[in-house]
Amino acid sequence: MSVEKKIQDMQERKVAIRQGGGPERIAKQHQSGKLTARERIEKLVDPGSFVEIDAFVQHRSTDFGMDSVNAPGDGVVAGYATIDERPVYLYSQDFTVIGGSLGEMHAKKITKVQDMAMKMGCPIIAINDSGGARIQEGIDALSGYGDIFYRNTLASGVIPQISVILGPCAGGAVYSPALTDFVFMVDNISKMFITGPQVVEAVTGESISAEELGGATTHNEMSGVAHFLSESEEACFASIRKLLSFLPQNNLEDTLLYECSDDLNRLTPELNSIIPDNPNKTYDVKDVIRAVVDNGDFFEVQALFATNIVVGFGRINGKTIGIVANQPNVKAGALDIDASDKAARFVRFCDAFNIPLVTFTDVPGYLPGLDQEHGGVIRHGAKLLYAYSEATVPKINIILRKAYGGAYIAMSSKHLGADLVFAWPTAEIAVMGPEGAANIIFRKEIENSQDPIKTRQEKIEEYRNKFANPYVAASRGYIDDIIEPEATRPRIASALEMLESKRDNRPAKKHGNIPV
Ligand code: HXC
Repeated sequence: MSVEKKIQDMQERKVAIRQGGGPERIAKQHQSGKLTARERIEKLVDPGSFVEIDAFVQHRSTDFGMDSVNAPGDGVVAGYATIDERPVYLYSQDFTVIGGSLGEMHAKKITKVQDMAMKMGCPIIAINDSGGARIQEGIDALSGYGDIFYRNTLASGVIPQISVILGPCAGGAVYSPALTDFVFMVDNISKMFITGPQVVEAVTGESISAEELGGATTHNEMSGVAHFLSESEEACFASIRKLLSFLPQNNLEDTLLYECSDDLNRLTPELNSIIPDNPNKTYDVKDVIRAVVDNGDFFEVQALFATNIVVGFGRINGKTIGIVANQPNVKAGALDIDASDKAARFVRFCDAFNIPLVTFTDVPGYLPGLDQEHGGVIRHGAKLLYAYSEATVPKINIILRKAYGGAYIAMSSKHLGADLVFAWPTAEIAVMGPEGAANIIFRKEIENSQDPIKTRQEKIEEYRNKFANPYVAASRGYIDDIIEPEATRPRIASALEMLESKRDNRPAKKHGNIPV
């Protein structure tokens, strides 16, 4: 064969591979409202930047008629590209090829890009659309999953790992996404479950649709497995690009420094009146966050899960910060099992990737209740204490209003190593709220009084005057300064600048044992 013919032969082979499962299956994919594996990559990355590797890989399975099955690329497209000119590695399962099922060689393609992403220190993005372990390949498929999970774990805290669920993701396959940092799902397209609806019904008798069992809303609102919900694949890709803009490439690199067009000394007079006079009234803490960050640009993570706490990314002076804030609008901002899990995981992500933490505290305590106690709020709540204590990144806390009891300690208090704690004059720092405190410590006086209602009110006021303010805590040095709410942005900006050179170490150990 002449060289020219060889080149032509190679090109024809590549064209055939790019057809995936062929026009009919591609049409079926489109009919079900989904893009193909390659279309997804094209829409996600910088135009023309994707370089495919391992396109010629083929399976070597012979059982159950597999010897006659042609599976272009073995059902997964893998390679590297750029997003906003920064390199990423990625793979995208091709449902048109044996249902995107994962066999031995499919898994090897994935582990190859995982290894390369680790060596090069680049984020990795996994687009999942698969029937799971390739049934014909048995243990070879299972071993492939194990190899992926192992690498997910090694990469955790070294490079950002992003999972995108754009089709079924069933059985043990869900555990790769679960091991990664962020899981994106799209309404009506994404499904994640350990066992599907039929198995659930057969085993437990519960009848439920696939969407209800493991759809995007379920995992964003209820289980907390997912972090982002999008209405379309395109919107999902835009969210991924936005998320990456806040992240460093790896744990040894800084986040990007953006040009800051927002005045660092900008005052926010609207915050002077955001706290209602009535302590039982609420407000939206996201208004505080948006007022403070550069250009009001706050990118929320897990916006639909455990909404009594808000976490996400923003920038101050063009640099990424991680934000954690109690949300008084929901459950009065109390910490519960889900809120503790959500915040602790976010704090650990930020710490792993050297992103400073800014906390806004308005918390009446840990949520009381049988469900909470029996659900292990002690164990889950402890995660937040652990995460903040362990974090060595710059930690700034602004106490807006309530900071009661154990939750005061948990929310980035001085006692857990916060570098700077500011309080607004509206802050109330105490063991518990004045009502609860008065009921306990003045119980006898109230009961024996001729006018118990009046006495109770007086005692509440007495306690409020003594402790429901920031001055006692400030007199002990647990609060570094009490600031005007309108000065919050400049104060955070100068604190971040001062803390830029922070160095903090923890005792050498193999690893700690967070109460999971
Ligand atoms: C081999 C598979 C497959 C699989 C799908 N296909 N899943 N082949 N192994 N796991 C094939 C189908 O046979 C079909 O081939 C093609 O992919 C498209 O599948 P359809 O069923 O036609 O598509 P659809 O109707 O959209 O249904 C998609 C589906 C269904 C819901 C994912 O295919 C399904 O239930 N698959 C099995 C899911 C499953 O139980 N997987 C194993 C989970 S256990 P043809 O040639 O007919 O078009 C697991 C363990 C992992 O993953 C453990 C890790 C630790």
